Amino acid sequence: KQLRKAVIAGNWKMNKTRSEAVTLIKEIIPLAKDADCDIIVCVPFTNLETAVEAVKGTNIKVGAQNVHFEEAGAFTGEISASMLKEIGAEYVIIGHSERRQYFGETDETVNKRTKAALAAGLIPIVCVGELLWERETGITEEVVSRQIKLDLNGISSEDCKKLIIAYEPVWAIGTGKTATNEQADEACALIRGRLASLYGKDVADAVTIQYGGSMNAQNATELVAKENVDGGLIGGASLKAADFGVIIKAAS
Ligand code: G3P
Repeated sequence: KQLRKAVIAGNWKMNKTRSEAVTLIKEIIPLAKDADCDIIVCVPFTNLETAVEAVKGTNIKVGAQNVHFEEAGAFTGEISASMLKEIGAEYVIIGHSERRQYFGETDETVNKRTKAALAAGLIPIVCVGELLWERETGITEEVVSRQIKLDLNGISSEDCKKLIIAYEPVWAIGTGKTATNEQADEACALIRGRLASLYGKDVADAVTIQYGGSMNAQNATELVAKENVDGGLIGGASLKAADFGVIIKAAS
């Protein structure tokens, strides 16, 4: 764990207009400034340029929440990796469960998007995690292992080291029902184990694996203290500067 710096990323989802985004970022900046972790805000596409401008000269980085896998062309409504890169985004969330659930995202498209992001020099935050019924029927390990294998299919060791993986059990997202510290640690360890069998231990040890799902100012300290939990991907609590600030401190 000492090898890996914690990464705290806010996933704003479809929240905040451009002016609201500036206000929130300005509130986060002083709370983040002495942090000993990496800090990212993943904002809606329309706020990217403004967010990049607002974080200039600070320790906060900007990410997008999705990217298309084709380089360019007739894909109405889509955004390419090079567009994100040029605007100054450094990270991109890929395969969030909301995209898998509502927008037809599959492991195959997650894999393509991840490759496109890497090729453009963006750092993908690849989301995996089981549904409630999958946990209840005891197939979490199988589900998450399959996602890791398919989502990273054909990605080199060198590229794999750059990735962030977010373990987000779907039943914990936006529900206020956080995974226990042990469940989070166990699943992140399982992911690291899968990475070790695919890429070897050195690569697996280098990959940042976050927990996401109702992480908040109250539970963050214990979650990020776990051996295999290298920070968090935070939804609701990332929209309140004070709460996000407490989470950043917890990971520092
Ligand atoms: O990507 C973050 C996420 O899905 C968790 O959302 O609101 O449960 O923190 P939330």
